[in-house]
Parts: sequence; C-alpha cells; structure tokens
Amino acid sequence: MAKTATLKIDDKEYPLPVMIGTEGEKAVDTRALRAASGYVAYDQGYGNTGSCESQITFLDGDNGILRHRGYPIEQLAHHSDFVETAYLVIYGELPNATQRREFGLQLRKNAAIETQMQKILEGFPTSASPMAMLSAMVSALPAYYPHLATNNFEQDLKGFDLAAAIAMSKIRTIVAMIYRYQKGLPFMFPKQELPFCDNFLHMMFSEPYQDYVSMPEVAKALNLVLLLHADHEQNCSTSTVRMVGSSASNLFTSISAGICALAGPLHGGANVAVMQMLQSIHDEGDDGSRFIAAAKSGSKSNRLMGFGHAVYRNFDPRAKIIGEACDTVLTRLGIDDPLLKIAKHLEQAALKDEYFVARKLYPNVDFYSGIIMRAIGIPMNMFTTMFAIGRAPGYIANWREVAANPKGRIYRPRQIYGGPVKRDYVPMAQRG
Ligand code: ACO
Repeated sequence: MAKTATLKIDDKEYPLPVMIGTEGEKAVDTRALRAASGYVAYDQGYGNTGSCESQITFLDGDNGILRHRGYPIEQLAHHSDFVETAYLVIYGELPNATQRREFGLQLRKNAAIETQMQKILEGFPTSASPMAMLSAMVSALPAYYPHLATNNFEQDLKGFDLAAAIAMSKIRTIVAMIYRYQKGLPFMFPKQELPFCDNFLHMMFSEPYQDYVSMPEVAKALNLVLLLHADHEQNCSTSTVRMVGSSASNLFTSISAGICALAGPLHGGANVAVMQMLQSIHDEGDDGSRFIAAAKSGSKSNRLMGFGHAVYRNFDPRAKIIGEACDTVLTRLGIDDPLLKIAKHLEQAALKDEYFVARKLYPNVDFYSGIIMRAIGIPMNMFTTMFAIGRAPGYIANWREVAANPKGRIYRPRQIYGGPVKRDYVPMAQRG
C-alpha cells in the first residue's frame, strides 16, 4: 500500500501522499493540501520544496555526493570531458562512438554567429557587463531561429537536438566574442576542425595570422572547469530556466532567463567576488583575517565569498576536485599564483573557525575555479560567463524535462500575503 503522511490541523486530519525517489529521497506531496484544507505549504526561498521530479542529477548535500544520470562527478571529472558529460546530462546516457561524433559535429556546425547578430553585440557599450551582453544575445536567438523557438512544446521538441547544439555551441562563441569586443580585438571565427574547448581558446586568444598555441593542459583544465559546472540540480538559475520554460517559452528564452539569474554574486557571480577578495587580500598584504571577521558579522554583503552552499552541508565535491586540480594545473603550466596560497590559507583559517564550523560552511566550486581560469588566461570579468558555458547542458536538459512532461503545469507558487487589508480609495485632495 502507498505510504501516506497525515497532517492534523485543529481536529481535522489530511492524508498526504509520500514520494520516495530512486536514491531514497523522501517527500510529502502537498499538491492537494490547499484544495482540501485551505492551507498552503510555506517555504520561503523553496529551500525545502521539491519543485519537480527530475532524472538528471542527484545531489546529497549532507554527504557531499553529486551524480549526473547516476555517474559520480569524481568519475566524470577523471575519465570524461565536457562535451561527453554534456551529452550525458542532456540525453541521459554516455554516448557511443557514433553518437559522440554526431554530437561533436552538430556543435562544430553550429558554432558561428550570424553577421546580423554580431551587430547586436557591437551595439552595446564596450564597458557593459559580459553577463548582460550574454543574456541579451541568447535572448536574441529566437529571432534568428524562429522555427526552433515557436513557444509550443510539441513543435520545439521536434527541433530539440538542433536547438540544443545551437545553444551550447553559440553560448561559447558569444562569450569569446564578448571578450574580444571589450578588448577592441577583431572577432576570431570558429574553426570546424577544433574540439569544443580548443575552439573556444582559439576564438578567445588567436590573432589574425597567428593561431593560438598552448600546452594541452590548458584545454584539459578548461574541460574540467566546464564539466564541473555542467549541471547542479535545482539551483537558482536552473530553477529559473524551468520556471520560464514551464510557461511554454522556448529553449533559448528560458536559458537567457537562467543566465540572468546566474549573474548574481550569491550564485554564478561568486567566482568573480572570490577573486576580488583574494586580490584585495594580496594587494593589502594581510592574511585574510579581516574578511573572516567581517563575514562573521552575519551581514549578507560581507559573506566570505566562495564559502557555503544552499545544499551542501559537508563539502562540495566539485570544490574538492577543482582545489586539487589547481595545484596540478598551475604546476604543469609553470605558474606560481600568490592567490592560490592566499586561498589555501583562507580556507584553512575558516575551517578552524567556530563560526564556519558551526554553520557547516565549506569552500564551494567557486572558491578555486577562478584561480584555474586565471591560469588559462581568462580575465576576471569573464568568469561568470564561463560558468554559463559550463551550465548550458544542465539548462538544456532541465528545459527538456519541463517541455516533455505531459503532466507538467506552469510554475506558479503561492504566497502568504502580509500587506494592508482591504481599504477604500482615497482621492488625492484628501491624502496627507
Ligand atoms: N560567509 C559567512 N556566513 C555565511 C556564508 C558565508 N559565505 N554563507 C552562509 N553564511 C551564514 C548565514 O549568514 C547563516 O548564518 P546564521 O545562521 O547565523 O543566520 C548561516 O551561515 C546559514 O546560511 P545558509 O542558510 O546555509 O545560507 P543560504 O542557503 O542562505 O546561502 C549561499 C547559501 C548563498 C551560497 C551562501 O552560503 C553565500 O552567500 N555564500 C557566499 C557566496 C557564494 O560563494 N556563492 C556561490 C554558491 S555556489 C554556486 O552558486 C555555484
């Protein structure tokens, strides 16, 4: 017999279905509660709300577990690359050789940006925020691919494979173009023969008549950074993608909304904030204790950036992988970055501090990702756009789940109203 929970309000009992996920995650299904009792479930910020059933990513924050389609992130980081992991996240299985080749081909064929779209980019001030430019460019994609962006689930799902390749490949190209535009450099067009990450490095750093050449470690490090961002369950930006997608908005529009959500410093923007913090510790020559002391004030604007996570209460497995990779990558590239030493020192100091211990605050993926990106040559103001390239597969997979769910409904939470009760309109002359 299906298990139920019982909620008792006053003298009345309400049976509520219990749901158990494939990894044993438990939920009480409150969907029918309001109709039966007049009560809604209150959960500010949705911290304890399962907003959907998903088959993409499993995350156990208490035990530091992250798996995509069942595969542990540690194994993917060790054996896979970004494009293969993207395929896994989007399509549910690791690709065989033919599928991998075909997916790679689609990404290569859809890398270039139309000349007219370039003009949109050139209309922005060069000082504009790269994330503002990126989200605007992605939200312009439906104008160029209207047949893939009809805002009709059935129709848009028919063109899903192509739309997914366009989104993933072009987000990367747009990011490289933003970088070059801001630096006043001519755009470098994608090269069909290059793999995903090498192509990005080429579009960023090649010069006319002088191709970018680097050690293979650079593309490998970039692969790792992107792979570690590929998906992360119902985080703020992915939930945004799902929410916008639930109104039957097309893939590109939904992703663009996700990119807007990613921009905030408490989410994707944290990787920039971490580097600013480390740089300022370096410039001022102190030991970081000032930042730790300020973070303990409880003020949101003084948080220790790169620390804490909405769901991890043990450690962020991505931070562990990327923290270890920092040492390897910097050593192989022959880079001695003082910010890495500062980050390690800060991490040790915070992990010994009662405030952070008591609240189970550990480094998150953003604490070390900036150091690797800096070693690759990516400037700090572009870090969050790199996160967007990495997270694209997660956005795409989550949009598809929403679009393909025949029982899906528009995301529309309730609220507890706390404003003025009914009152009568007061004419202007009688207002104080
Ligand atoms: N520095 C200092 N105190 C912190 C920090 C921090 N980085 N993070 C949380 N806290 C405190 C909170 O103030 C709260 O204190 P209180 O219990 O005394 O009120 C307590 O720790 C618990 O906070 P949570 O409920 O766990 O935090 P929440 O879920 O609201 O926020 C978040 C999670 C936004 C990630 C937060 O930890 C933070 O702001 N971190 C810094 C920004 C950051 O690194 N963001 C990247 C997240 S990872 C990602 O998006 C890829």
